[in-house]
Amino acid sequence: MPHSVRAVIARAKGEPVSIETIEVPDPGPGEVLVGIQACGVCHTDLHYREGVINDEFPFLLGHEAAGIVEEAGEGVTNVTPGDFVILNWRAVCGQCRSCRRGRPWNCFETHNATQKMTLDGQPLSPALGIGAFAEKTLVAAGQATKVDPAARPEAAGLIGCGVMAGLGAAMNTGQVGRGDSVAVFGCGGVGNAAIEGSRLAGAHTIIAVDIDPRKLELAREFGATHTVDSSEEDPVEAIRAMTGGNGVDVAIEAVGLPATYEQAFYSRDLAGTVVLVGVPNPEAKVELPMIEVFGRGGTLKSSWYGDCLPSRDFPMLIDLYLQGRLDLDRFVSETIDLDQVEEAFEKMERGEVLRSVVVL
Ligand SMILES: NC(=O)c1ccc[n+]([C@@H]2O[C@H](COP(=O)([O-])OP(=O)(O)OC[C@H]3O[C@@H](n4cnc5c(N)ncnc54)[C@H](O)[C@@H]3O)[C@@H](O)[C@H]2O)c1
Ligand SMILES: [Zn+2]
Ligand SMILES: [Zn+2]
Repeated sequence: MPHSVRAVIARAKGEPVSIETIEVPDPGPGEVLVGIQACGVCHTDLHYREGVINDEFPFLLGHEAAGIVEEAGEGVTNVTPGDFVILNWRAVCGQCRSCRRGRPWNCFETHNATQKMTLDGQPLSPALGIGAFAEKTLVAAGQATKVDPAARPEAAGLIGCGVMAGLGAAMNTGQVGRGDSVAVFGCGGVGNAAIEGSRLAGAHTIIAVDIDPRKLELAREFGATHTVDSSEEDPVEAIRAMTGGNGVDVAIEAVGLPATYEQAFYSRDLAGTVVLVGVPNPEAKVELPMIEVFGRGGTLKSSWYGDCLPSRDFPMLIDLYLQGRLDLDRFVSETIDLDQVEEAFEKMERGEVLRSVVVL
């Protein structure tokens, strides 16, 4: 029997989202039905509703979620009904050329549920293959990772997207280690998570760069040792001055703009690492003197979802949270109802929140 549930739908490009009743099928082989408890509002949801990702409307929005497995389809072994899970948008296949080489975090064939959720008989496109601004959603079993149920759902769900991307940009992609210096450009949810990840990994200097003083204040709370308001001063010079004239070991770009990418490139020390975790728009271009790319040495990397492996990283991060070593609560700026997502988009655009979290 399909389930009729309330959900947040983007029907057409640029139009405000609406609450609709959708149909969610019972899980088929390899699928699970998850009762959503909390789901964060991410910039990517807004990008879907603005039509910049693709035009496969109607979209079922929401993807930073935690909830309880209600039903598991045939052949599902990683979770059972009653498990508390965090959803992820990169369920690894185990068989592609990257998985076969022992690099599952780069999986090239990640998968989602095969059956479609529908609105008035029309198939929905779930945001990032999840669609969790809904009372229940249907995902592939590999998209659900069991974690300790002692964690608050509104904090735990954030691990499912932006916070994981930021933590992983520092800990996995950037390989920040004890004694490293780090600069993070853009201190929204992703950048502040990169700051926390750098602190956890043992960085001794963590420089936060943003154009919004409210974000820099939060960055201090998450562990930044220095801040630079790049609307007031040149961040490359400021970072050099803060690091004995050398620059940082790891520079993390968490905005997705050519200008901040260039700042990250020039603010790192010789043989340092640049990590791009911000998502650029398709027209963005960077131009760099090739001699600088060569002469500075080091590594230029991109970070898909923080190079995370949900089955490895989610339970570990939730354990750190429960031990009081990883602050997830500070990302939860407010909790809201399902029908307040549109207002939350506006607050996000005004820079007033790190995360508004829908609680069901
Ligand atoms: N790689 C991934 O897998 C992944 C996952 C989730 C999000 N993202 C991307 O990460 C980026 C950040 O996401 P978010 O949720 O933190 O967004 P956000 O809007 O909350 O934060 C962006 C921050 O950048 C700051 N900023 C804007 N222009 C700036 C500039 N010129 N210089 C310095 N700071 C500037 C803003 O003030 C804000 O604090 C986005 O591009 C998002 O799409 C990537
Ligand atoms: Zn997201
Ligand atoms: Zn794979």
